Amino acid sequence: MEKFIIHGGRPLKGEIRVNGAKNSALKILAAALLTDDNCRITNIPQIEDVFRLVELLTDIGVKVKNGSRGDYLLNAKGIAKSSLSPDIAQKLKGSILMTAPLLARLGRADFPQPGGCVIGQRPRDIFIDGFKAFGASVRETAKGYSLLAKKIRGAKFVFPLVSVTATETMILLAVLAKGKTDLINAACEPEIVALADFLNKMGAKITGAGTPFVKIEGVSHLKGGNCEIMPDRIEGGSFALLAAAANSSVKINGINPSHLEVLWFLLEKVGVNFELGRDFVKIKPAQELKAVSVKTHEYPGFPTDLQAPFTVLMTQASGLSLIHETIFEGRLFYTDTLNQMGAKIIMCDPHRVVIQGPTKLFSRRLVSPDIRAGIAMVSAALIAKGESTIENIYQIDRGYEKIEERLQKLGANIKRTDKLL
Ligand code: EPU
Repeated sequence: MEKFIIHGGRPLKGEIRVNGAKNSALKILAAALLTDDNCRITNIPQIEDVFRLVELLTDIGVKVKNGSRGDYLLNAKGIAKSSLSPDIAQKLKGSILMTAPLLARLGRADFPQPGGCVIGQRPRDIFIDGFKAFGASVRETAKGYSLLAKKIRGAKFVFPLVSVTATETMILLAVLAKGKTDLINAACEPEIVALADFLNKMGAKITGAGTPFVKIEGVSHLKGGNCEIMPDRIEGGSFALLAAAANSSVKINGINPSHLEVLWFLLEKVGVNFELGRDFVKIKPAQELKAVSVKTHEYPGFPTDLQAPFTVLMTQASGLSLIHETIFEGRLFYTDTLNQMGAKIIMCDPHRVVIQGPTKLFSRRLVSPDIRAGIAMVSAALIAKGESTIENIYQIDRGYEKIEERLQKLGANIKRTDKLL
């Protein structure tokens, strides 16, 4: 099992570029299943979640050519298998996205029970109600779900709560449905806009993506298309928070600053010294950081995926901050590990912690529970004096491509090893 060894306590310096967005790439790859024609998708991050999705696509008969640097050519003409391999699908929560194109193309889709997830329950009820609303029959077994539909009919569907992947799945289902679809209380993330833009390029008729009201007029078929994956706003935000927590001078290139407005607002209140450009943010050392409270919210609110890196920053800020995680019920347990490093964090309940800062952090042996807590641990280990190890780095590799090599270029002392220590 690989791990990271980090010698922390030294400031970082230099420039780092964000890659294509994980949470867009997975959806665009699923969209390519909706056509017999070729789709060329570029700027795909080379991360474990993408590798798992490509394995799933290949397994059902999609031809995937992986060119250089995240340039993929896909052709789904030959798809023949409607069931997702449980072994692969359970490693990737987003694999449920593939069920919509499979239903639309083959009239059937089978997917496994989602399995446990450290950040929360991740229920599937909204998806199931959505599939039914579009005319599919759903059979649940101990192993998973079987969806059957002779014909997908457009529908009015109201999301009882805002769900990113459920919104994307219903969009993927509605584009080839017969008739009109109205999605109400849809998620508004920029990745959803990117998905709708790509599908429209392929011939779909979607309006309103990026608002809670999405309208879709079904079409009989889609053609192929090209798509460049948008920059990863969560990677950009993670790097900005990491640089601010390490009180360093780092320029983060290739971002779309308008995707992170609430983060910039909060960083200003914290007293982070930064400069925003058209496609970059430059973080510079600051005099004093002030504690600021944050509540995660669906886009355009503060992203739950940046909550853990923000918490690490708050361990370096003066005063009390309340972190309120509203989206997932299991996404604050990593704070216990930060306490073992010297942080002063009190958990009020599974959704809220209070941080008393600033505190010195000390090196430790760490285990990454999920992608975002994982990057927060990298950040904490870079601040902490001495040698830390981080285990279970598959979780970090799921979302951040070759993170150690990119941080080494900023002067970080971080190494990947598979040696037993
Ligand atoms: N929910 C239900 N029922 C459902 C579906 C969702 O109750 O059928 C609940 C969830 O339990 C959660 C809330 O709805 O409490 C919102 O979750 P959502 O469905 O929006 O999350 P997701 O679509 O599964 C995506 C990202 C996550 C990101 C969340 C929130 C992808 C592949 N994943 O997950 O990304 O945290 O939206 O923004 O797009 C990550 O990248 O580290 C990550 C976890």
